[in-house]
Amino acid sequence: MYRPWFVILLTGATGLVGSALLRRLTDAGQPVRCLVRDSRRLGLERVRVQIALGDLADPASFRNALRGVDTVIHLAASIRDQEKGSIEELNAMATLRLVRAAERAGAKRFVFFSALNASLNARPRFFRAKALAERAVAESPLETTIFAPSIVYAPYDPYLRILERLSWLPAMPLAGNGETLYQPIWAEDVADGVMAALSNKRAEPERIELAGPDVLSYDAITELALHSFGRRRPLLHLPLPVTRRILRGLERIAAPGHAFATWDEAELMSVSMTSAKGTAGAEELGVSPLSMRAVLGAS
Ligand SMILES: NC(=O)c1ccc[n+]([C@@H]2O[C@H](COP(=O)([O-])OP(=O)(O)OC[C@H]3O[C@@H](n4cnc5c(N)ncnc54)[C@H](OP(=O)(O)O)[C@@H]3O)[C@@H](O)[C@H]2O)c1
Repeated sequence: MYRPWFVILLTGATGLVGSALLRRLTDAGQPVRCLVRDSRRLGLERVRVQIALGDLADPASFRNALRGVDTVIHLAASIRDQEKGSIEELNAMATLRLVRAAERAGAKRFVFFSALNASLNARPRFFRAKALAERAVAESPLETTIFAPSIVYAPYDPYLRILERLSWLPAMPLAGNGETLYQPIWAEDVADGVMAALSNKRAEPERIELAGPDVLSYDAITELALHSFGRRRPLLHLPLPVTRRILRGLERIAAPGHAFATWDEAELMSVSMTSAKGTAGAEELGVSPLSMRAVLGAS
């Protein structure tokens, strides 16, 4: 796969999947350019990559970033509104603009991360925006790969850190009935899958669902996380309308973009993210995803 004379443009390199993927790419000697808002967030990797300062809400920043690029891996996304752009702007419009800019810049391949069960009919705005973005990518004349993962996690990731903080309360508050289903997949397994896909040259557009080995409810994931923190807490299910009122209230009093959690984020947990194909998508890429229990050491 490694064609050192070609550059990969990676967005979202500071995120959960992006940081695992970037390590693999730079270890392999692949030239990578990272489109980032703040290069300090790349940590030590920032000296091993080319940096293009940019923002999903600033399409003008895409042009420079794309110069001489062969492959775009577009991971950057946001599950909450930002000062510079809404969820729709940052996920749907930005993807459409990036894919068009990549076509104009002469890139050959576009790899995009959507989400399992993203749909135009979904209630959460994020899933609707991802569905629109998927459509823009699938319609591109470029060689395209769309990954649709279930929930992606890693020990100490931001979501598990929130659960850890909540676990200091006498009961763990959960949005909704806790019955939504997931097939959590470890970020390292996802990154291995992307590396394998990059080596496969496919003429046809492809869409790959990435799911871990276990189907777990929101409750089961929370129990597993509690176990890994060494704590036992009763689960407190908050009906969605109550959750909405609490979180909307918190959003109003927090500084813009700094709420502990938002209703748009909590609403995501009302939609199951499972694949009828189970782990087949990952396995076709030569990855046997580990169980969440094994990764979190919660057995
Ligand atoms: N994690 C999951 O459970 C999950 C599930 C399904 C699909 N996905 C999709 O998989 C992909 C990777 O997910 P992830 O969990 O690795 O994401 P993540 O950890 O939330 O990281 C998001 C990345 O996007 C960047 N970003 C956010 N807003 C930006 C903006 N305005 N301009 C430029 N960059 C911006 C962030 O950079 P900063 O460092 O500047 O914040 C960060 O690098 C995403 O497309 C996500 O939607 C994730």
